[in-house]
Amino acid sequence: MSEEINVNKNLSDEEIYQSLIPQIENLISVDEPIISSLSNITAALKESFDKISWVGFYLTKDSKLFLGPFQGKVACTSIEFGKGVCGTSALKKETIIVENVHEFPGHIACDSGSNSEIVVPIIKNKFVYGVLDLDSYQFSSFNQLDKKYLEIICNLISTKLPIEKIIL
Ligand code: SME
Repeated sequence: MSEEINVNKNLSDEEIYQSLIPQIENLISVDEPIISSLSNITAALKESFDKISWVGFYLTKDSKLFLGPFQGKVACTSIEFGKGVCGTSALKKETIIVENVHEFPGHIACDSGSNSEIVVPIIKNKFVYGVLDLDSYQFSSFNQLDKKYLEIICNLISTKLPIEKIIL
């Protein structure tokens, strides 16, 4: 399995995502613990986009989200469904783009420097197994383009990996 990625940061975000998706497919290893693949996906995203200050997974256990593999500063370890951007995304089963986190009611500030965020749920058979959360120090860092490609990545996770067997 490939253990490094090639990324050209001079390309547009769309071109970077297009080159990244097949590399992320290669990082998904069905014969190894799920957490290993998720860890490398966070590293690949962080390495590819300078706008990302924090990227990580929160994973579902006992109807709550718990901190999973991530890249960035120390973060809060548990989030209830319906709370913060992550919990709201998990509850609504939809991607949430927040251009200014200070205006999002109930936003959970793990890093006071964060100004914008996107959260994408990982859904399989209508169950939310977790969310992929990306933060940025810039305002309005994430848009429909990020949503499109991050949803492709989360879809790869839910279709290629036995995410329902993840052990927390
Ligand atoms: N801001 C998130 C909490 C997680 S941190 O950003 C890493 C939220 O409001 O759910």
